[in-house]
Amino acid sequence: MLELKNIFYSVDNKDILEGLNLTVPDGEIYSIIGVNGTGKTTLAGIIMGLEGYKPDKGSIIFNGSDITDYSVTERAKLGITLAWQIPAFFEGVTVYEYLSLKDGNGKPEDYLDFVGLNPDKYLGRIIDESLSGGERKRIELASVLSVNPKLVILDEPDSGIDMASIDAIRNVIFSFKKAGASILLITHNEVMASMGDVVSLLCEGIIIKQGNPYEVSNYFKTYCYDCTSMDDPKCEDNEEAMIASVDNLSGKTTRK
Ligand SMILES: Nc1ncnc2c1ncn2[C@@H]1O[C@H](COP(=O)(O)OP(=O)(O)OP(=O)(O)O)[C@@H](O)[C@H]1O
Ligand SMILES: [Mg+2]
Repeated sequence: MLELKNIFYSVDNKDILEGLNLTVPDGEIYSIIGVNGTGKTTLAGIIMGLEGYKPDKGSIIFNGSDITDYSVTERAKLGITLAWQIPAFFEGVTVYEYLSLKDGNGKPEDYLDFVGLNPDKYLGRIIDESLSGGERKRIELASVLSVNPKLVILDEPDSGIDMASIDAIRNVIFSFKKAGASILLITHNEVMASMGDVVSLLCEGIIIKQGNPYEVSNYFKTYCYDCTSMDDPKCEDNEEAMIASVDNLSGKTTRK
C-alpha cells in the first residue's frame, strides 16, 4: 500500500529524517511513536507532499506507483488524507459546509455522530476560535471521514482531547479501518499507539524498533520517556539491543 524507501530530509543543514524505511500494509493501522522533535510531523508532511517537504533522497510508493514527485492535490486524489496535529482553520465556514466540501458516502450529521459530537448542536456552528481545540480536532477527524480515504495519516489525533473522549477518537480510527482504509497513526502516547497492528519507534529520524504493539510500547516507556538523545548513557547501555532490533530497517546501524 504505502512504502517509504530510504527517505532523507534536512532543513537548514539539520538532518531530520535519516534513511527512513517503512511499509504500511493494506487495511492496517500502523502506529509511529516517538518523543517530541523526532520527525513525526515532518514524516506526515513528506507523505502528504506538503510544500517544503520534498525528501532530499528516497522514494514514496503508493499502490505500486512512485508518487515522490506528485503534488499534494494529486496525492489527495489518490485517497491520501492528513489530519493535522493542530487542526486546520476554515474561518467563516459552517461545520455543515465544511463537512459537505467532499462527496463522501455519508452525511455531515453521520460524520459528527461518529466523532461524538451532537449534530443538532454543531452543524450550524461557524468554524472559528469559538470552537474549543478538542471540538475542532474532532471536526477535523469528521472531515477525514467525508473523503472516503484510502490512507489516513493522523498526526496526534489524541492531542487536545480529554480522556473521556479518547474512546470516541479510537472508534473513529477503527471505523477508518473497517471502511478498508490504511492508517498511519502518529502519537507519543503508547496507549494510543498500541491500537496499531504494528508499532514503530522513531528516534532522531530513523525507525529503531518495529514490531508488536506491546513490545514496542513497553520499550518506549522504559527507555524513551526521559531520553534527550541517543547519546544518553541510558540509551548507550542499550545500544546493542537497539542496533540488533533495527534489523536493517533503516539501513543504518549506528549513529557514531
Ligand atoms: N523549518 C524548520 N527549521 C528548522 N528545524 C525544523 C524545521 N521544521 C522542523 N524542524 C525540526 O525538526 C525536528 C522534527 O520536527 P517534527 O515537527 O517533525 O517533530 P515531531 O516528532 O512531530 O515532534 P512533536 O512530538 O513535538 O510534534 C524538530 O527538532 C524540529 O525543531
Ligand atoms: Mg509533531
